[in-house]
Amino acid sequence: MLKIAVVVGSLRKESYNKKFAQALGKLGAAKMDFQFVNIGDLPLFNQDLEANVPAAVTKFKQEIESADGVLFVTPEYNRSIPGVLKNAIDWGSRPYGKSSWSGKPAAVCGTTQGAIGTSVAQAHLKGLVAGYLDMPMVGQPEMYFQWKDGLIADDGSVTNDDTRKFLQGFVDKFAALVQMYAQSKAKAA
Ligand code: FNR
Repeated sequence: MLKIAVVVGSLRKESYNKKFAQALGKLGAAKMDFQFVNIGDLPLFNQDLEANVPAAVTKFKQEIESADGVLFVTPEYNRSIPGVLKNAIDWGSRPYGKSSWSGKPAAVCGTTQGAIGTSVAQAHLKGLVAGYLDMPMVGQPEMYFQWKDGLIADDGSVTNDDTRKFLQGFVDKFAALVQMYAQSKAKAA
C-alpha cells in the first residue's frame, strides 16, 4: 500500500477541495492510503523561528518525509494558490538543504466552482513543484475540475460515469508514478 500525504490548500470545513481529495482517495483505495496532512496548525513562516522549529512544523515535515508520494489539492485564490498552501510549502522546504519535498513523486489537482477549474493556480503550483521543489510530477492527465453540487456524493463516490472515468485515469497515473519511485527506492536500499 502506497502512503500518500494529501496537502489540501483550504482550511474551510466544507472545502470542495477536501471533498474532491476524498473522492480521489476512494478511487485509489486499492493501491493508495490517503493521509490528510494538517497545514492549519503551521505558524506563518518566519525565518527567525528556524532557530527553534515549532513542533507543528516538525510533525508536518515528518508526515511528508514518511510518505511515498504527495498529492497537492489546491483551490484558486486570485488566480494563484492560497497563502496557507504557500506557507506549508515554504516550511516543508526548510531548513536550507533539508527540504522534505525533494524527490517525492507528486500530482497537482484542484477544484473550484469557476469554469477554468483552478488551472491558473495549478500553473503556478506546478512551476514550484516540478521546477523548484524537484518533485517528479504527473503531467497528463491534467486535473482541472469544475465543482458541481451532486457530482461527488457525501460518501466520496462519483455519481457520473464519465467523470468517474476521468478521475480514475488521473488517480491511476499518479499511483503508477508513486509505485515506480517506491520500487526503485526499495531496490536501492
Ligand atoms: C476565491 N475563489 C476563486 N475561484 C476561482 O476559480 N478563481 C479565483 O481566482 C478565485 N479567487 C478567490 C479568492 C479568494 C480570497 C477566495 C476566498 C475565493 C473562489 C473559490 O474557488 C471558492 O471559494 C472555493 O470554494 C475555494 O475552495 P474550497 O475552500 O471550497 O476548497
